[in-house]
Amino acid sequence: MTKIRAAITAVNAWVPENVMTNKDMEKFIDTTDEWIQSRTGIKERHILNTPGEGTSDIGARAVEGLLKKRGITADEIDLLICATTTPDMQFPATANIISDKVGAKNAWSYDINAACSGFIFALSTASKFIETGAYKKVVVIGADKMSSIIDYTDRATCVIFGDGGGAVLLEANDEGNGIMDSILRVDGSGRVHLHQKAGGSVKPATAETVAAKEHYVYQEGQTVFKFAVTNMADVSAEIMERNNLTGDDVSWLIPHQANKRIIDATARRMGLSDDKVTLNIERYGNTTNGTIPLCLWEWESKFKKGDNIIIAAFGGGFTWGAIWIKWAY
Ligand code: UT7
Repeated sequence: MTKIRAAITAVNAWVPENVMTNKDMEKFIDTTDEWIQSRTGIKERHILNTPGEGTSDIGARAVEGLLKKRGITADEIDLLICATTTPDMQFPATANIISDKVGAKNAWSYDINAACSGFIFALSTASKFIETGAYKKVVVIGADKMSSIIDYTDRATCVIFGDGGGAVLLEANDEGNGIMDSILRVDGSGRVHLHQKAGGSVKPATAETVAAKEHYVYQEGQTVFKFAVTNMADVSAEIMERNNLTGDDVSWLIPHQANKRIIDATARRMGLSDDKVTLNIERYGNTTNGTIPLCLWEWESKFKKGDNIIIAAFGGGFTWGAIWIKWAY
């Protein structure tokens, strides 16, 4: 009997129109376009500045376009999972709000929070519902409004993040394509290097936490960089080795877009040339859960049926992992 795999059958993404360039940032922090580009690869990022709009609006727009592309209605979605680090609110889940906004009346939904690795954690989780035959159509969203938790006076952190996100549809595939393997890891002791200090149950919001800027992203950049380079490269090499894939077998690496130097190191470790790596960090920055669906969306037309694609991510937690996909269309 042919194994049923979960395959991506449609991709869509959405970013706000408003763009903040490095030159714009030079006007309010002590930085230069040259420093940002050489240290991160970023030229500009999109910022959602429409009052009253949040992550669910990014996700809902991505899902609406996704349904149109696949020619299905929201009623047909069985399950909707949203990976986000910037939920609309502590509760209910942003996935529930997206379900309401797109009219997914027959779906149940929930959020996954694994920081920058959230989208691959969600993709792997979602694939099990398809492989078991429990559901026919599962939507996975990765979206973040990072600007809502960024301190725009902290030059070491604010230059790297942006807003945006995307969504994929997972359906059953019996042709041998789809999600083939995944390796997902966490090391919670890494949380001290990258986190949001207040606003949760340990330190609820008070006037003091707001004054101390504890609701913003706290990141020890250099330490996170070292862990990210090692772990993202190691896990990408590991998933290739355990599936007997060489650099020649892999058509594409879709890396989380946190820093071009981390991406370059991962590609080198995998034996891949630059033309096999999806890179759009220069236009979007690090959109956290949004980076991978944004890459899938922009490169979709270049993928061929049967292409071996490795998706890799590293993020706060620490969390990291890699997924091997055989592209299904
Ligand atoms: O996606 C989730 C996981 N996150 C990541 O993977 C991020 C990993 N970390 C990084 O990408 C990098 O560490 C950053 C891009 C955040 C920072 O780059 P860095 O090369 O590690 O810089 P640094 O923090 O070590 O700072 C080096 C110098 C410092 O100056 P001094 O002390 O040497 O005089 C900083 O103050 O660069 C300075 N600096 C800046 N200068 C101009 C830091 N940020 C800036 C800036 N413009 N925006």
